[in-house]
Amino acid sequence: MHLYQNHSLLNYNTFGLDVKTKYFLEFDSEEDLIDILKQSLVRENPLLVVGQGSNLLFLNDFDGVVLHSAIRGIQTVEETEDAVLIEVGSGVIWDDLVGYCVKQGWSGIENLSLIPGETGAAAIQNIGAYGVEIKDVVQKVKTIRIADGQSSVFEQEACHYAYRESVFKKELKGQFIVTSVIIRLSKKPVFNLSYNHLEKEVLKNGTMNLENIRNTIIRIRESKLPDPKVLGNAGSFFMNPVVKRERYEALQLQYPDMPHYFVSEQEEKIPAGWLIEQCGWKGRTIGNVGVHAKQALVLINCGGAKGKEIAELAAMIQQSVAGRFGINLIPEVNFIS
Ligand code: EPU
Repeated sequence: MHLYQNHSLLNYNTFGLDVKTKYFLEFDSEEDLIDILKQSLVRENPLLVVGQGSNLLFLNDFDGVVLHSAIRGIQTVEETEDAVLIEVGSGVIWDDLVGYCVKQGWSGIENLSLIPGETGAAAIQNIGAYGVEIKDVVQKVKTIRIADGQSSVFEQEACHYAYRESVFKKELKGQFIVTSVIIRLSKKPVFNLSYNHLEKEVLKNGTMNLENIRNTIIRIRESKLPDPKVLGNAGSFFMNPVVKRERYEALQLQYPDMPHYFVSEQEEKIPAGWLIEQCGWKGRTIGNVGVHAKQALVLINCGGAKGKEIAELAAMIQQSVAGRFGINLIPEVNFIS
């Protein structure tokens, strides 16, 4: 266990906000975490568990304990001719894991290349990109219950996964800490290239293989999304809204070029980035904050921003999208006050 006081969270929020936490604690094993959870410091203060903070917006300094997993390591649990089951520590950097699996020739997560963050948070957030979500490969999530330090293993179905949602963000929010994630990957190449022009892009880049898919996705992401080390951001700030079919049809009549994705007979998904761009926000800056010029769904810290300024910009964007399209944008980013 490592304890730090008045610790900077600059390295634990990709918005690059200069905030501090009263206490910062790191654990590197399940046993370590169970011990930590018995400490009065942890029991008597507000608790926040973070990965790399790639989906967090700190509105203030944090007056409590920030806990971070340093459980690293990737172990093969089971292997057959076709598939491999691996157990991944919650503190493993997600993209390091993707790189490792691609090198081994294991398919399933290559489309999730370059997503910032750590594996534990990725499983809570149900990260997704280019037609794949982590839920497609998760088999089990191993956790410790904060209340009593009991270990508890969640099977995939018990995680109640949905678009950027899981039981850990909803019904059981703040009750469990992820220690490792068990992931099933295929040893036979199974590619998912259904997203927009992905297949064409991959073939433009070379032959159809895992390495090429990973490199193509990295290239696409780098062309649209700012590097958080250069320009603070948390990827997509809002979720893409799902609207009732009648509303979608009415909007489509008015905006025939509006991009959209089929969800069900009753619903259609509309890219929030398009809605925000239509409202004239793309590339605009207000003080220290702004809307990325290449992807309107990404809010940026232009340097020295406060969390509250980002929250104010987000509220203005929500207001204009609601005013023009009658759609409420819901943040994907978690606000911490
Ligand atoms: N679009 C615009 N203007 C913009 C941005 C997008 O018109 O400023 C349009 C694009 O032309 C395209 C559509 O919106 O027709 C979708 O854009 P894009 O492919 O960039 O994806 P997205 O819907 O904006 C989602 C995820 C991303 C993920 C990409 C690729 C959400 C909230 N975001 O973005 O995830 O990388 O698809 O699969 O679902 C994240 O969650 O942080 C994230 C980056």
